[in-house]
Amino acid sequence: MTSARLTIDPHFSVGPINRRIFGSFVEHLGRCVYDGIYEPGHPTADDEGFRQDVIDLVKELGVSTIRYPGGNFVSGFRWEDSVGPREKRPRRLDLAWHSTETNEIGLHEFASWLDKVDSELMLAVNLGTRGPLEALDLLEYSNIAGGSALADQRIANGRTDAFGVKMWCLGNEMDGPWQLGHRSADDYGKIASQTAKAMRQLDPSVELVVCGSSSAHMPTFGEWERVVLTHTYDDVDYISCHAYYEEKNGDLGSFLASAVDMDHFIESVVATADHVKAVVGSDKTIDISFDEWNVWYIERFHNVDKIEGIDNWPVAPRLLEDVYSVADAVVFGSLMISMLKHADRVTSASLAQLVNVIAPIMTEPGGPAWRQATFFPFALTSQLATGRALEVKLEAPTYETEVYGVVPLVDAVATHDAETGRAAVFLVNRSQGEPVSVTIDVSALGEITVLDAQTLADDDVYAKNTLDEPERVALRANDSAELAEGQLTIVLPAVSWTAVSLGA
Ligand code: AHR
Repeated sequence: MTSARLTIDPHFSVGPINRRIFGSFVEHLGRCVYDGIYEPGHPTADDEGFRQDVIDLVKELGVSTIRYPGGNFVSGFRWEDSVGPREKRPRRLDLAWHSTETNEIGLHEFASWLDKVDSELMLAVNLGTRGPLEALDLLEYSNIAGGSALADQRIANGRTDAFGVKMWCLGNEMDGPWQLGHRSADDYGKIASQTAKAMRQLDPSVELVVCGSSSAHMPTFGEWERVVLTHTYDDVDYISCHAYYEEKNGDLGSFLASAVDMDHFIESVVATADHVKAVVGSDKTIDISFDEWNVWYIERFHNVDKIEGIDNWPVAPRLLEDVYSVADAVVFGSLMISMLKHADRVTSASLAQLVNVIAPIMTEPGGPAWRQATFFPFALTSQLATGRALEVKLEAPTYETEVYGVVPLVDAVATHDAETGRAAVFLVNRSQGEPVSVTIDVSALGEITVLDAQTLADDDVYAKNTLDEPERVALRANDSAELAEGQLTIVLPAVSWTAVSLGA
């Protein structure tokens, strides 16, 4: 059998794991909010109309920070439409998704839902069709205790305590020609800097994310980051990365290696940020907020889902409802491995998105909610990856891909929590034909046992969970894991993702 080796040693620390990397994203898009988290009249709906079955699944998923309300949606959004008495809120045309936004759910309702799922709010301001003044207004409304017009308006609208939002995105994907108000790096860098300075003047405690590239394959990638950070280096804390992967032209081998692209993306942005740091002579280090990542069959959206027509603006249409396979979930798990491998610089991330829209959780109106295949690697990584991320010194065979050249068959990362003594290792086998036997030297962890080993794999790599078969795909215990004399061996099936939990 093909074999690979790796070593886990708490001394090989990459950096502490920030819980914010287990964030997600809720956009006013399709059925993410309406008919997703919110469905008054559903048998499980609570007194605010939120589905309890969805709340339970979001909690099980283990999401930290949730980015809101977009996405492309935010570039046409007027935040003040979404607060105050519901009957007075306007219905607006959302140009990004060619839909009608009823504003039934807004800042107050969403913050209340976040309390129910124990997650932190990360807000995006509109720098597409609006500017610093509207960003300041939203910040005053959200974070000032009282005694000013907008803070008092919030109180009058039923919320006495400030929302106290720490994480703010300065617009969304401003490099993308599809974005309302799309700008050049120079123009965006200037408005982002002005907005950031103004926001900090109002609330110095905010943490600000400037828009990086919406993909590492944008024609402006690299130069965009350099120019934008040159304008904003002293004003912001994070630069964003967005990346979506899909299997194209039946090339599963390249698709399985998507994390190689994510590794390269992260390392390129880190290099660019550090270059600007040297040029501007700053002591501060800019981190990455990977605030949109996932598997997404984008071509399907362009060819099948797209809504058109001047008289056709549906409310909560079925959009971007990708159904994920085991292969998709294996790639998804490997993207989480990539972010953990860079935990020193990726300190915030948002799985795009959370419910129904390219999501780990699906719902049927009046019916059930269920876990997609991608739910499992997210939930288990969020649960087990605590403490510090460790480099694993991997020796693995390679294979040839059309898109990324020669790549390792196996990828892995480990984590170690000095407080609990627990460790975990996350592995992916990209081989389509054969299992790989991995030997892991865990002797540096001292007296330790295997607490659990779970694998996601299937004879049919395109097996999926659906409304009719919601439990077709699930994690299974990997009984091959054996630990003797500091050497842990485990067999990874073809096209699989595995998590091993170790403890005293
Ligand atoms: O997540 C779906 C969309 O993808 C977001 O609205 C946008 O930011 C990105 O292009």
